[in-house]
Amino acid sequence: MKLNISYAITLFLFILPIVLSVENNGFRIELRHVDSKGNFTQSELLYRGAARTMHRLSQIRGRLLFSSANIISTMRGGNEETPVGTYYMDLAIGTPPLFYSLIVDTATDLIWTQCTPCKKCVFQPRPIYNPSRSTTVSPIPCNSPIYEYLCSVDPPPPSCLCSYNYTYVAGWTSGTLKTETFTFGTTKAVQLSKTVFGCSTSSSDDFNGTSGLVGFSRGPFSLPSQLNASMFSYCLTSFFDTNSTSTLFLGPLAKFSGTAVTSTPFVKSPSKSPFSSFYYLSLQGISLGTTKLSIQPSTFTLQSNGTGGLIIDSGTTITNLINQAYHAVQNAINSIVNLRRVDASNINGFDTCYNLPSGSSLPTMPDMTFHFEGADMVLPVENYMIPLAYQNNNLWCLAIFSSDISVSILGNYQQQNFHILYDVDKEVLSFAPAQCGN
Ligand SMILES: *[C@@H]1O[C@H](CO)[C@@H](O)[C@H](O)[C@H]1NC(C)=O
Ligand SMILES: *[C@@H]1O[C@H](CO)[C@@H](O)[C@H](O)[C@H]1NC(C)=O
Ligand SMILES: *[C@@H]1O[C@H](CO)[C@@H](O)[C@H](O)[C@H]1NC(C)=O
Ligand SMILES: *[C@@H]1O[C@H](CO)[C@@H](O)[C@H](O)[C@H]1NC(C)=O
Ligand SMILES: *[C@@H]1O[C@H](CO)[C@@H](O)[C@H](O)[C@H]1NC(C)=O
Ligand SMILES: *[C@@H]1O[C@H](CO)[C@@H](O)[C@H](O)[C@H]1NC(C)=O
Repeated sequence: MKLNISYAITLFLFILPIVLSVENNGFRIELRHVDSKGNFTQSELLYRGAARTMHRLSQIRGRLLFSSANIISTMRGGNEETPVGTYYMDLAIGTPPLFYSLIVDTATDLIWTQCTPCKKCVFQPRPIYNPSRSTTVSPIPCNSPIYEYLCSVDPPPPSCLCSYNYTYVAGWTSGTLKTETFTFGTTKAVQLSKTVFGCSTSSSDDFNGTSGLVGFSRGPFSLPSQLNASMFSYCLTSFFDTNSTSTLFLGPLAKFSGTAVTSTPFVKSPSKSPFSSFYYLSLQGISLGTTKLSIQPSTFTLQSNGTGGLIIDSGTTITNLINQAYHAVQNAINSIVNLRRVDASNINGFDTCYNLPSGSSLPTMPDMTFHFEGADMVLPVENYMIPLAYQNNNLWCLAIFSSDISVSILGNYQQQNFHILYDVDKEVLSFAPAQCGN
């Protein structure tokens, strides 16, 4: 597979006349927040983020309990109003190239889009990709090594098509695996011919409103894996800033430096699917201000069955901590906030809220620090507390949820205004505070 510079036929790709390869250079992609054009109030943005977090949790819960049949989570599907997925990237598929906006997902690896002829496609805003109109699409033959990883045995030869059913448990997508030319990049376009992707002809309603997804996980068919990109990074703008654009970088362009950059190794994930593709981090403790919270060091240890541990995820909005850690954080917040606690036990998942008397300003609060192995992530108050309107009251809520699944997740509200680098070759996550979007 060779990366070539693509040429012309695009509305918004500006092409430089040099040959690029991901490893010599890399490229940049703008990320669109799902709610960026919605003209939502701050509280609406939050409730929508919370709803996506719940949906996400059920997806991850589903994957964790993959082998125990007693959990079946059913979630309301998305729609044009509230699609699943938080960040979307634009890319072009096929020859001639057609543009799509697909969900960016760091927790899974398959790249897929809906294809005609549909068996059970969900609603999507743009016309569905039609492989018969592209000159560069090819089937994956069943003697290909790829075949064994994703393809199910039927239909058998002679048709020999690689059919898959990729389950997110709270959702699934199914079709035939193919290769096709994909074009990426905002300012410099990179083409990847023979991108392995899922041509989905049936998907569960969970994906209603979306055209598909791009996986960024550690799995073999994620975009970074297929590009042989040694690293990628992103910088997510302030959650409430729907005007400026978050960016994602792939390849060496992803790198950044400075004295504020710290790094922590990824924890080796359990080798057995379905957890093997998550990016696990080693969280060792949490402080509020200078006070180290009393949380047993083993609380975040990853078990061999995939429970425990902490995942960094682009698709979860609000961080989830397993109960023991959540209660320690909640107690610490309670001890420093001098406001009346609101006893609405669960406002869309927000469980620790205070009443803000009208006209009062937001209380001053210290930073909260997540102590990762080798690196402290210092969250300013805007990254862990949230002003929220609820039934004519102004609330001040902790933007961390208690995880009812036995895994913790670092969500994207906490990642706002950090530049975050996934060095997939070195198996290290680096980050530094940044004003993203400027
Ligand atoms: C990635 O590396 C593999 C194995 O070395 C190679 O076959 C493939 O062509 C490379 N892909 C790209 C896009 O460079
Ligand atoms: C956005 O919402 C505000 C308040 O609801 C409204 O006044 C304004 O006209 C809306 N703007 C657009 C562009 O829809
Ligand atoms: C899918 O989204 C469309 C457009 O928003 C909506 O009309 C339809 O009811 C949704 N379907 C489901 C099953 O949610
Ligand atoms: C894919 O798998 C899911 C979960 O096992 C199942 O509910 C769904 O019906 C399957 N889809 C197809 C098209 O076989
Ligand atoms: C976004 O842009 C609009 C119009 O330019 C402006 O009125 C609004 O204040 C901006 N919002 C933020 C959060 O910067
Ligand atoms: C996973 O392993 C841990 C520790 O051995 C155990 O406590 C837990 O019950 C297991 N969970 C599942 C879902 O198997």
